[in-house]
Amino acid sequence: MPDDNKYISKMGERLIQALFRLLQVVKIHQPNNALFIESIKEFREALAAISAERDTPTLRVIRGRFYLDEERLNLAAALVRTADKLIEYLEARSIHGLRFYMTSDLADEEIVKFVRLLNQAEREDDPLAWLQVRFDVEDCALVELLTEHDLKSSGSGAGSEEEGDDEGRKSSRQTTASMVRKTYSHALTSIVTMTKKLASQQRVGIQKSKRVIQTLIDILSEDESILLGMSTIRNYDDYTYTHSVNVAILAMCLGKRLGLGRPSIEQLGLCALFHDLGKVEVPLDLIQKTGALTQAEYDEVKTHSVHSVSQILRLNADHGLKKKILLPPFEHHLGADLSGYPKSDRTAPLSLYGRILMVADIYDAMTSGRTYRPEPISPDKALKHMVDYAGGKIDAIVMKAFIDMIGVYPVGTLLFLDTREVGLVLETPEGAENSRPRIILLQRGPGDTLLKGARADLAERDPATGTFLRNIIRCFHPTDYGIQPADFLV
Ligand SMILES: [Fe+2]
Ligand SMILES: [Fe+2]
Repeated sequence: MPDDNKYISKMGERLIQALFRLLQVVKIHQPNNALFIESIKEFREALAAISAERDTPTLRVIRGRFYLDEERLNLAAALVRTADKLIEYLEARSIHGLRFYMTSDLADEEIVKFVRLLNQAEREDDPLAWLQVRFDVEDCALVELLTEHDLKSSGSGAGSEEEGDDEGRKSSRQTTASMVRKTYSHALTSIVTMTKKLASQQRVGIQKSKRVIQTLIDILSEDESILLGMSTIRNYDDYTYTHSVNVAILAMCLGKRLGLGRPSIEQLGLCALFHDLGKVEVPLDLIQKTGALTQAEYDEVKTHSVHSVSQILRLNADHGLKKKILLPPFEHHLGADLSGYPKSDRTAPLSLYGRILMVADIYDAMTSGRTYRPEPISPDKALKHMVDYAGGKIDAIVMKAFIDMIGVYPVGTLLFLDTREVGLVLETPEGAENSRPRIILLQRGPGDTLLKGARADLAERDPATGTFLRNIIRCFHPTDYGIQPADFLV
């Protein structure tokens, strides 16, 4: 509606003006200067006004025009020059948008930190890459920088009009792949930082985790298989951290398959990322112990799901959000039949998020070589074990959706073929052919190295005889052969 757009344009104008002014003022004045203080106030008020209307508002630049979220701003003539200068400023840093995370207790220092970093980036060879690292290192939670890719993957109407041909899709997949790698590492840093801060009793926010989860959802809406490929990452030294990120990815993909909407997938992702936070209260030598645990030790490890709840309560985050993400971490070892732990008189069934989280957690734990169970199980065997528990400890409907999602041979499974070739499962088509995945062939390189070869589709048949060109003889866990599947798949 025109009136709505007028209102939104006014709010956008105010933000653009305040931001541009602040960027200039911070360059030349000291923090105690009156203009400096006034500019921060103006910016804060402009942002607060928009944030009161919209959750995490995003200022985007699409083909030389400003948009607030999905709406194009009709700027007053007097502001066009400022807007053009701000666009030029952002373009010089390859920034295509700014997503704001306003909080009621936002400190002036947070605003100054973000503005200073933006200004400093001008001197760098690759300003965007530099900014992304600095934002991470300095825990800059106020703003998320959006790249050209972010605009496309978020389905921004105006940003995706020009896509389409095969080349475009190929390069889009490559861009997505690099985005996934970067986001995975951000997710890892966020959970490592949180855990360390919690362990040393420091105040811990969740803005960074929220940003990571939102980016993962953007990627999920574009390419599920690339995200599932990333969940095959294994790191034995940092098991708990990679496990948390993998479980978040698997749970979110599964949530989407089960029809959850974006806000629910976001909550589920946070639950999953935080589900094992309680391990900070379990002695590290127990978490890292090789060999079997004694009963007393196992009892102590089992307290972690309750501790996860208390750690989430300690987080510096919106109370309403915390309430929504508490239960599934508490439930994640309870079992759909309530036979697990912690023991209680409860008779209420497990929540949906709890059932999803359990499946993702068990699968990742089984296929990872944990310190106290050094032999990882191959993905297909893990699925078979899990199917045995479906209908009891594991929810049967969620399990069925999980198998539909990852296929009989999950992404990252190492396959030996009757052609004497070796390949890694890349993705599984939906439906009837889900026992015949698409794979990446592996070739021997110099020394003992393995190189990424061509792609092959195991459903492909010989046109002359009608028989399949390649058949699976055996499958293995990739780590049996020292292979990190994500290196080949993403
Ligand atoms: Fe756990
Ligand atoms: Fe876990």
